[in-house]
Amino acid sequence: MAARTLSLLASAAALVAATDPSLKLKTFVDVMDLEFSFDPVKAAYWTSLPHHRRTPFAVSPDGQTGYLAYLDSSGTGVHVQHITPATMTVKGPLVTIPDVYEAGGLVAHDHGFALLGNEPIATTVANAPPSSTPVPAIYRYQNGVQQWKTFVAGPGVHPDDGLSMAPDMNGDLVWSDEAELYGAYFVVTDYTGDAEGHFGDSIEYVNDNGTLETITGASSSWGCSHNTGIAFEAADAPPYASICAEDQGAIWLNTETQGMTNNGIKISNENTTNGASGEAMGGMSGSYSALARFVNSTSYIFAWVSRGAVDLTADTWMGDGYTSCSNRTNGRRVAMAMFSDKETKTTAQASSEVGAADGDSQVNWVTSTIGADRSNAHVAVFDDEYALVTWEEIADPQCDIIAFGCSGTFSGSYFQLVNSAGTTIGEPIVSNNTYVAGDMATLSNGTICWPYVNMDWRLDLPVGGGLPDTTTQKMSFACMSLV
Ligand SMILES: *[C@@H]1O[C@H](CO)[C@@H](O)[C@H](O)[C@H]1NC(C)=O
Ligand SMILES: *[C@@H]1O[C@H](CO)[C@@H](O)[C@H](O)[C@H]1NC(C)=O
Ligand SMILES: *[C@@H]1O[C@H](CO)[C@@H](O)[C@H](O)[C@H]1NC(C)=O
Ligand SMILES: *[C@@H]1O[C@H](CO)[C@@H](O)[C@H](O)[C@H]1NC(C)=O
Ligand SMILES: *[C@@H]1O[C@H](CO)[C@@H](O)[C@H](O)[C@H]1NC(C)=O
Ligand SMILES: *[C@@H]1O[C@H](CO)[C@@H](O)[C@H](O)[C@H]1NC(C)=O
Repeated sequence: MAARTLSLLASAAALVAATDPSLKLKTFVDVMDLEFSFDPVKAAYWTSLPHHRRTPFAVSPDGQTGYLAYLDSSGTGVHVQHITPATMTVKGPLVTIPDVYEAGGLVAHDHGFALLGNEPIATTVANAPPSSTPVPAIYRYQNGVQQWKTFVAGPGVHPDDGLSMAPDMNGDLVWSDEAELYGAYFVVTDYTGDAEGHFGDSIEYVNDNGTLETITGASSSWGCSHNTGIAFEAADAPPYASICAEDQGAIWLNTETQGMTNNGIKISNENTTNGASGEAMGGMSGSYSALARFVNSTSYIFAWVSRGAVDLTADTWMGDGYTSCSNRTNGRRVAMAMFSDKETKTTAQASSEVGAADGDSQVNWVTSTIGADRSNAHVAVFDDEYALVTWEEIADPQCDIIAFGCSGTFSGSYFQLVNSAGTTIGEPIVSNNTYVAGDMATLSNGTICWPYVNMDWRLDLPVGGGLPDTTTQKMSFACMSLV
């Protein structure tokens, strides 16, 4: 009898071990006092609808130090606060990088950090951009002291292709221990050359001593036209894994091409209007935690929002082999794509067949129901097998302007467990007072943490349209772990 009970228990244990884990959310509400005030809302391009202003966040490989970057509410100067990850409280020191207009990406090292920002160059400097328009740069600090600052656009950077500036900082910064290189992917406007006055994007590499390296087949002075969304993640060697949303109708895995040509991998067809493609990767102040690499693996996961695609037509501007489409839905759904390595999608590419009625049959939807609008999608991995996909919803949206965001009553943040095979596991956790407003960092113990501001998050009115003042001197954090 006793033996039988034991063997029953043993098989029950085996069942549990083979069962997928579930999610546990822990919040640290108003845990950190900020020395300077911060405005957590940023108006979206074109619609002025509210977006979370990104607060880049990263944790050092040794797990000892977190770094939170935030723009001073004056609009000039980025503060980088050192944090104790166990408690999410101030560790000191606070570093202020003056003159920087936006925090656009952060890499944590054991004794310091690197930040992607943008700052104006005096118009007295030869070949500086007009009207003190800011130029992106990488800032490297060690033990609170600046080691170097390297401009990744502006005077002297790829002058033969045209000089670039970044009026808005939309992009991301990554580091590879194997390649010993920072990679930065960011939206630019050119101010000289063929593309003068046009929006595009650039990928640049900088080594650990601050030297800008031009790498054939990896560095890019101009890639995706009117890029409205970037997803970027490190690889063991350049080119790093990169994705762009462009203004012609597609989202490309452009690791190999760095551009929008169809020798890249077409992840998705998206309706584009007025240069926009539905804020697939968050639009203004987005472009972070959209592409993540599984731990100890060559595989990546990408999450975005999409209106789907119907009625593929020939894109005569791009030429043969390129298509445009109409949107299938009014509100957006959340989608995910898996890559077995930085240049290989595990399932079919999006169709480029002119005349096809369906342009989205390849999409792996995370949310299948139609009606709600989803935005602010992000993804981070727990380990080598599981990942967290998150988004926000408006249950009853009003989408006045095609290919942009929607307005309406915020109806919750969603957190969905998925696995590396691209399968959703269980039901999402829903929260009405926890948001993703900065980079999702995976700690070495497999917990995913991110910063947000504890506030009444509203998506019903444009910025300047009657929303209350939201400036704050408190930061909150949330962590998700597997149980
Ligand atoms: C991982 O570490 C963080 C920071 O120290 C802690 O808050 C969290 O509870 C840990 N997670 C697990 C699953 O132990
Ligand atoms: C910085 O790195 C480059 C490329 O590896 C190298 O040529 C240069 O000598 C290095 N400079 C310093 C100061 O170490
Ligand atoms: C986007 O969708 C709208 C609505 O269906 C359509 O009128 C427009 O032509 C589409 N854009 C492109 C570039 O096909
Ligand atoms: C396409 O999107 C626009 C803007 O969200 C919306 O007005 C239109 O109804 C959508 N088309 C379909 C077929 O849902
Ligand atoms: C990744 O590999 C390291 C070194 O082998 C190991 O210590 C760690 O547990 C692995 N992590 C995961 C999530 O597999
Ligand atoms: C969140 O708020 C929405 C709208 O007020 C409500 O419908 C929903 O039930 C709330 N969800 C939770 C989990 O509190």
